[in-house]
Amino acid sequence: METPLTRLVGVRRPIVQTGMGWVAGPRLVSATANAGALGILASATMPVDRLREAIRAVKSRTDAPFGVNLRADASDAGDRVRVMIDEGVRVASFALAPSPGLITELKDAGVIVIPSIGARRHAEKVAAWGADAVIVQGGEGGGHTGDVATTVLLPQVVDAVDIPVVAAGGFFDGRGLVAALAYGASGIALGTRFLLTSDSTVPEAVKARYLAATVKDVTVTRAVDGLPHRMLRTQLVDSLERSGRARTLFQAVRRAAGLRKLSGTSWLRMVQDGRALRHGKDLTWSQVLLAANTPMLLKASMVDGRTDLGVMASGQVAGVIDDLPSCAELVERIMKEAEEVRARLAR
Ligand SMILES: Cc1cc2nc3c(=O)[nH]c(=O)nc-3n(C[C@H](O)[C@H](O)[C@H](O)COP(=O)(O)O)c2cc1C
Repeated sequence: METPLTRLVGVRRPIVQTGMGWVAGPRLVSATANAGALGILASATMPVDRLREAIRAVKSRTDAPFGVNLRADASDAGDRVRVMIDEGVRVASFALAPSPGLITELKDAGVIVIPSIGARRHAEKVAAWGADAVIVQGGEGGGHTGDVATTVLLPQVVDAVDIPVVAAGGFFDGRGLVAALAYGASGIALGTRFLLTSDSTVPEAVKARYLAATVKDVTVTRAVDGLPHRMLRTQLVDSLERSGRARTLFQAVRRAAGLRKLSGTSWLRMVQDGRALRHGKDLTWSQVLLAANTPMLLKASMVDGRTDLGVMASGQVAGVIDDLPSCAELVERIMKEAEEVRARLAR
């Protein structure tokens, strides 16, 4: 199935596995790439030298194109971009809009730039700055999310920009792919569905929590880092929502210290990143500290398997997923179903 996305990136399938912190590592990304879809490595949760190793690990397992997701507002975004260019990464994916300068630097080096956006005006902005395509995430999507549903946001963005649009938020099957194409998208991007594959390194106990979740068990909270964040509702989420400001701040400082140790980030860099994050948003310093903690909370579940201590970011779609196929099985299943749906519609 050829679309403007497959032609732009050089993949066989119009399917993207998104960059999920602690989840989208070399194993998942290379399995996705070998299945013919576009895998995106999550880099915000690793230091720069580890990023180079991770890129090389993907390249050792596949010759297919893949991408790297990074935070445009990180103080070392420039260093990360240079590693990606050096290593010949095909696609740069951004959680927040990259600056025009960063887009130009990447494009001049032949890297395809695909920011993720959650509002029409952001899509218009990055398209004007030269982005090659956009991933549009509707409110049902996992992780940091907006409040406009994919079914409303997607046609709005498709009508507003002339570059390929990839639909994200709530996709898991071939019907969704055909529906997205019908809206004018060039493909679909899936987070939660790829987290729930046998190629994902997320501990089995954590996957079991996702599989057991119903649609109602997925919630949006600001209690973790001050920004709307979609995740499984757990006791931790309940207790964060109940605890007062002082206790929340105390916990935030403790976890920030842990993150600093783990990532090798200096306090100065954490403050710089916090300031960047705060820029243009109505966040208090306590919320900024909480935001710096989010990677630690995600790691506790996604790497250490602590379903009691960790945050389990999740799309609503977790409520309708009940198996763990390999990436190859998943991609083939989606494509087969999409072909069947298209044939049925044509009858
Ligand atoms: C566990 C998890 C971690 C995520 N981490 C990131 C991240 O580091 N950067 C990013 O741009 N998006 C992140 N996201 C959002 C996804 O990339 C994607 O946009 C979203 O999951 C799509 O919605 P879906 O889950 O309904 O497929 C994360 C999502 C999940 C579920």
